[in-house]
Amino acid sequence: MSNQEQLATLVDAAVADFTAATEPAKLEDAKARYLGKDGSLTALLKGLGKLPPEERKTVGAEINRAKESIELALTTRRDALRNAQLETQLAAEALDVTLPGRGRMRGSLHPVTMSLERIEALFRSIGFAIADGPEIETDWHNFTALNTPDNHPARSMHDTFYVTGVDGKVQPDVLLRTHTSPVQIRAMLAHTERYKHLDTLPELRILCPGRVYRVDSDATHSPMFHQAEGLWVGENVSFADLKGVVTDFLRNFFESDDLKVRFRPSFFPFTEPSAEIDVAFMSGALEGRWLEIAGCGMVHPNVLRCGGFDPQKYTGFAFGMGPDRLTMLRYGVNDLRLFFESDLRFLKQFQ
Ligand code: FA5
Ligand code: MG
Repeated sequence: MSNQEQLATLVDAAVADFTAATEPAKLEDAKARYLGKDGSLTALLKGLGKLPPEERKTVGAEINRAKESIELALTTRRDALRNAQLETQLAAEALDVTLPGRGRMRGSLHPVTMSLERIEALFRSIGFAIADGPEIETDWHNFTALNTPDNHPARSMHDTFYVTGVDGKVQPDVLLRTHTSPVQIRAMLAHTERYKHLDTLPELRILCPGRVYRVDSDATHSPMFHQAEGLWVGENVSFADLKGVVTDFLRNFFESDDLKVRFRPSFFPFTEPSAEIDVAFMSGALEGRWLEIAGCGMVHPNVLRCGGFDPQKYTGFAFGMGPDRLTMLRYGVNDLRLFFESDLRFLKQFQ
């Protein structure tokens, strides 16, 4: 084999080796086999010195040409491998800028919160102040001052959540309020104390929305629920005023003049006479069915006295409404527990 043929074979072998190298490290290994310190081309260059001087020039030039060819093949392959790697990386990290953004979830008020705000606004508009009281209440405010005797069934452990003290023992005098009616007592006491220097007390008109607790659970009862307590005390406040205020409120709340409302005689220890108020569903599966939404009545003389009012001079009416029930009626929801399960599929419908 001539010198030239030998070089051509070497170049072909190098090109084939470079092509076979599929990653940069393998390519550098292949390069070392030809151009490295012990590479076959390097060996040929080293052998030049042994040739007679007249051959050295032509053979040297041939070897150098072969070296250039190998180097060219090497850089070409290096570039190709680098590009391929870059392409893979770009494909892996690709961002599809045409995809729609995720957006931000829009929050909204809970349907019962919307009802509470609506109730507050309507009562404010007829001169009721918004009152407040603690959810952890004393037995005296929740029961005794409301003319509810010691042996009343509502005081039983099955109906009321009592509070445990730091010693781990149940404190029979501290409980989660079972209704918003204790706020009647707190508001009356604050009012009669504030105006005790006057011969005639100004009218007291409050609405107290808030959470209450009972050992209760079914489609129309939840262990935690809401009430909105109304109280109006003054001279000559009558049952007719109670009927007028509540009926008017309900018609405004439901935006319906032909709303079906009924006052059903009932009993509460803290009112006399007493009634429960029912409203009929106007839509949904329960259309036409009556749902009790409130208890009400004329404030009992014993309760007025506990609040510092003279029952000979003042009368008043009170009611305790269920805003959860009003929300059921307003939207035709047939199970009240849905309001408290935090299921977004349900809650989103009220956005
Ligand atoms: C009372 O709680 C009386 N304090 C109401 C009252 C106030 C009467 C002032 C007279 C004067 P009652 O237990 O009926 O009454 O509850 C009143 C309303 O709260 C009910 O009509 C109903 O709308 C709602 N309610 C009662 N229990 C639940 C419950 N577990 N879940 C949801 N709503 C309830
Ligand atoms: Mg009732």
